[in-house]
Amino acid sequence: MSKLFSYIFPVTKKVQSDYNGILEITWYNGKKHLDAPNANYSYGNLQKVLKSGLQKIDLTNVKHVLLLGLGGGSVIETLRCDFQCNAFVTAIELDHKIIEIAKTEFGWANDPNLTMVCEDAYTFIKGHKDLYDLVIVDLFIDTKVPDKFLEPAFWEDVIKVLSIGGTLLFNASMEQNDRIKIAAIMGQLEQNSLNLQLLENVLGINTLVLAKKPER
Ligand SMILES: C[S@@+](CC[C@H](N)C(=O)[O-])C[C@H]1O[C@@H](n2cnc3c(N)ncnc32)[C@H](O)[C@@H]1O
Repeated sequence: MSKLFSYIFPVTKKVQSDYNGILEITWYNGKKHLDAPNANYSYGNLQKVLKSGLQKIDLTNVKHVLLLGLGGGSVIETLRCDFQCNAFVTAIELDHKIIEIAKTEFGWANDPNLTMVCEDAYTFIKGHKDLYDLVIVDLFIDTKVPDKFLEPAFWEDVIKVLSIGGTLLFNASMEQNDRIKIAAIMGQLEQNSLNLQLLENVLGINTLVLAKKPER
């Protein structure tokens, strides 16, 4: 019924989260979105931004994906539905309430190829030994990428978990203050021989960084 009404007016439910303030789950034009107080998190423009990045990646041989920042899981929907990519996804999410929302509101409780881990992505990746063909870094608290995810120590760990030939997709902030740090991250990736692509101002919303570990 909510879906039907949403074609006439948006239907919103508010949920107090653990780390992200009051979240809104809104039916709008027949589709459910997840929004933080000042930013779309999932299934709206954010999903379109990440899709633009995925379009640039050859997903043929991607078997295992690491997603840092689950939100409502819209990028997994994009992988599954738009790119027919059924790769195994390990999704790390800090906020327990968001994992609950991903399961109950967005139907991610029963995907056999998805594991959801409630942990700080910074701690999870430190010393992590498994390798991934695709790593998606989509870590925000509202409109801000937390500072520790803009520091070299975190990116050192990210580079280590990328398989040979693997690709990294980083949804970077567009905040003016973060520009210097994002340039430094790109420098660090380049120094580690990754091939870079910068997609600026995607849909006027975010900057994406793509980086590929060479085959040899
Ligand atoms: C923009 S949303 C992710 C959207 C998601 N990738 C999608 O496709 O729908 C950002 C997410 O990062 C999570 N996050 C923020 N800081 C985190 C941290 N330290 N560790 C793990 N997740 C974190 C937030 O709780 C939020 O769910």
